[in-house]
Formats: sequence, C-alpha cells, structure tokens
Amino acid sequence: MRIFTLETPSERVASEGERSEYPWLNATELRYTATVYLVHLFALVSLVLGSGQEHHSSIASLDRAVVIQSVQTNQMNEIWSNMPVQNFTPPRRLLLGPGPSMVHPRVLRALSTPLLGHLDPAFLAIMDDVQTLLRLVFQTKNRFTIAVSGTGSAGMEASIVNIVEPGDSVIVGVNGVFGTRWATIVERCGGKAIQVEAPWGQVIEPEAVEQALRRSGPVKAVAIVHAETSTGAWQPLEAIAHLCRDHDTLFLVDAVTSLGGAPVEIDRWGIDVCYSATQKCLSCPPGLSPFTLSDRALAAVKARRTPCQSWYLDMALIADYWAEGTRAYHHTAPISMLYALREALRLVEEEGLPARFIRHQLNSEALIAGLTELGLLPLSPTGQRLPMLTCVTVPSPIPEAEIRTNLLSTYGIEIGGGLGPLKGKVWRIGLMGQSSTEAHVLTLLNALEELFIRSGWLSTPGIALLAASRVYSRTAS
Ligand SMILES: Cc1ncc(COP(=O)(O)O)c(C=O)c1O
Repeated sequence: MRIFTLETPSERVASEGERSEYPWLNATELRYTATVYLVHLFALVSLVLGSGQEHHSSIASLDRAVVIQSVQTNQMNEIWSNMPVQNFTPPRRLLLGPGPSMVHPRVLRALSTPLLGHLDPAFLAIMDDVQTLLRLVFQTKNRFTIAVSGTGSAGMEASIVNIVEPGDSVIVGVNGVFGTRWATIVERCGGKAIQVEAPWGQVIEPEAVEQALRRSGPVKAVAIVHAETSTGAWQPLEAIAHLCRDHDTLFLVDAVTSLGGAPVEIDRWGIDVCYSATQKCLSCPPGLSPFTLSDRALAAVKARRTPCQSWYLDMALIADYWAEGTRAYHHTAPISMLYALREALRLVEEEGLPARFIRHQLNSEALIAGLTELGLLPLSPTGQRLPMLTCVTVPSPIPEAEIRTNLLSTYGIEIGGGLGPLKGKVWRIGLMGQSSTEAHVLTLLNALEELFIRSGWLSTPGIALLAASRVYSRTAS
C-alpha cells in the first residue's frame, strides 16, 4: 500500500512520475502557482498603466491575499501529510451476511443521479412513488407510510418514542439481540419494559404474551421482532395480533430483516406500527427505515399527553413533510437514498411479492440441505426458520472465526458470526434480496467444501453441492 504525503515543490518535481495517479494534487499545485503569478502580473500591469494611491492599496491587498493563501496552503499541507487518504475501490465481495445485501446496478445508478431540492415538486413526486411502493411491500393502505431518515435503529427508536410516554408499560418479546435492544429503548423513554422471553433460536409463544397481558394491568403496546436476525428465528405474528386487539393494545413489529423477503401483512394481520430497513431484503444501501402507522397508532400519537421524546423522530412533525398538500420542511430529506429506495422498490414490484417469497424460501432450503451435509445444523427448529437468514451452529472442532476470515480473504464471501451468547458458536448466512440466488448458494457451499477439505473436516468433496442441487432439481421438475 502506498502512503502519500504532500511534499515541497522541489520534492514534487523529483517525484513527478510517481505521483501521476494523483492528478488532483497536480491541479492544486498548479492553481496555487498560477494564482501567485496572475496576482503579480495584475499588480505590475496596474502599476504601469495606472497612477495614484488606489493602485498601491490594491497591490497591497492582493499581496495580503497571496500571503493568506500561502499560509492556508501550508497548514493544509501539514494536515494532509498526516492523513494519507488514498483513492478507494472496494474489494469485490459477495455479501451473504446478516446485511447489507447485494445491491442491483439499477439502484447504484439511481444513487448517482443529480440531486433535486427536497421541496422541488419533481422530488415530491419521488416521495409519492416511494410511499405507494412501500404500501405495496407492507401490504397496507395506511396513509402514514414513509421512509424514516436513518437506519433500522431509527425506525426502532421511532416506534417507541412516538407511542410510549413515561410510565407506560410495553410487553417486549425477547429472544435475541434485537428484542433486548427494544426493551432498552422502552426503559430509556421512561416506559416499563415487561419482557416475555424465549430461548435464543426459538420464537415467543402467544400464550406467554397472553399471560403477560392478563397479569400486567394496562399495557400500551406489545413489541415483537418478526425476523430475529441474531438467531434466524421466524416469529409467527397473527395470534399475537389477535391478542392485541382483544386487549385493546397496540401491536408493534420489527420487520427489519423480513420485509421484501417474507410476507408482512400489516392490514390483514392487524399490525399498528411496523418498521424495516433498506439494506436487507430490499437490497438498497443502509440509510432509510420504511415505517408505517395504522390509524389506531396515529390516534395514539395524536392523543399523547407529553411531547415525543425525540424531535427528529417525532412523527407528528414529520407527517407534515410527507403528507400530500402540506409538505412543510422538517429536515432535509436524504435525496439520493430516496432515489435508491424508489428503484429498489420498483425491482420488488417488477418481480412480484409472491415470486420473491418463493425465491427466498427455495434458496434457503437448498442452503440448509447443503450445510446439513457439512454438519452445520440450523439453530431454530423446522417451521421457525427465516428464509432470508439461516443461523447454523458450528461444531466445536471447526475454527469458526478462522473459516469465516478465509471465506472473506480467499473467496471474497462475507457471512456473519454469532452475537452475544452465540458468539463463536454460530454462523449467520444471509440470502436477502439480490443476495438470494442459486448461484450464490452454490458458490458459498463450494467455498465451504474447499475450506473444510483443506482443514481436514471433510473427506467427500461435492456432497453439499449435490444436496443443494437436488433441492433445485426437485423444484424444477
Ligand atoms: C431485527 C433487527 N432490528 C433492528 C436492526 C437495526 O437496524 P440497523 O442496523 O439498520 O440500524 C437490525 C439490524 O440488523 C435487525 O436485524
């Protein structure tokens, strides 16, 4: 790796050939030299052609400008010489971890299109498109369906700060990292988090939620993670949604990892608040959090006794920017990210939700068939496994971190390790959005086989690939 430091002009001349890959530095240097010469030329011409005090003062002020520029340039040189920042071209990667996922070239192109102002009518039309397409993936008619500026955590935080007031009780399903985090946010907002737990890898039983609802007095909301990315558990939601209706409690759902890869039926199931993130099954870079509120939830937001704990995430204020007709400034929208999300959602719409869900399911089954042959078994029981995120236990003789590192360095494939109590014990393999393809499944299994054979964990080459291929050919016939 070459470290570049800025040099004095004479050193620059000496290393001219070497620096040819930094044309912008040549330009800076040229600009500076040209400015000095031009200023003095102008001063000289002024002296020759003109007369009197005015010209002397203009020469003096121009000379001062040159001195200031020279001092500033020296200071910048000093700063830059301590900051060797080079051109960056990302290494080639196949993103098969828990997110971000691969991004379609159309989305990357959308990101690089020219900016519009965030109140430009042409941009407001883009926002309308995003809302329409988000309603489609959320399967909802909710008017309040927007993209929150921020990653999935912004959506998570928004779901609590808008609904929970100090003293409110919230039942939170905790069976992994993200339920735990949600409970923390409830407490930070002055609420009381009543945790309903399940072992990591398993789902929250509706009976446990019902018991908590019966025992806990008034409960403002029940918060459940649909796709627990830390364990690969796929949480059924309908039974818990019914309980929430029966107990007149709001139902909050984290669909960060599931949206666009598995059904999230806001209206049919009766979900009141739901958020997601762009970098998982929507295959867009991270930076926005799709977010929807039912009328019931909106009424609760409007009926608050205290102001929302966050100004930035206050949906009552943000509504005025997203609502048709009003469009009042709240904060500068992340324009390019909204272009990208719109394009990513167009891709979802073109494929169609049912086809997309089938694709995720099929690739996950093929992956599991192959991994099983390698002795890597899913953490969650059959029927409770996410189609876009497979979490498998890594038997103790296999050096999980070393294999993961080799996958990245030798094959350019990223997969995820375990979090919290599962650290060092599991792999989390994401087949989300653009990452969920047959080619990617076979590429990963092939790489794993090679690494396993090299380290003596596998003696029969091809067994994982064969098992996965059988799943594909069974489905094709
Ligand atoms: C289920 C779940 N919720 C919330 C988050 C937080 O999202 P982000 O990292 O985009 O802030 C994640 C991130 O992976 C997640 O998987």
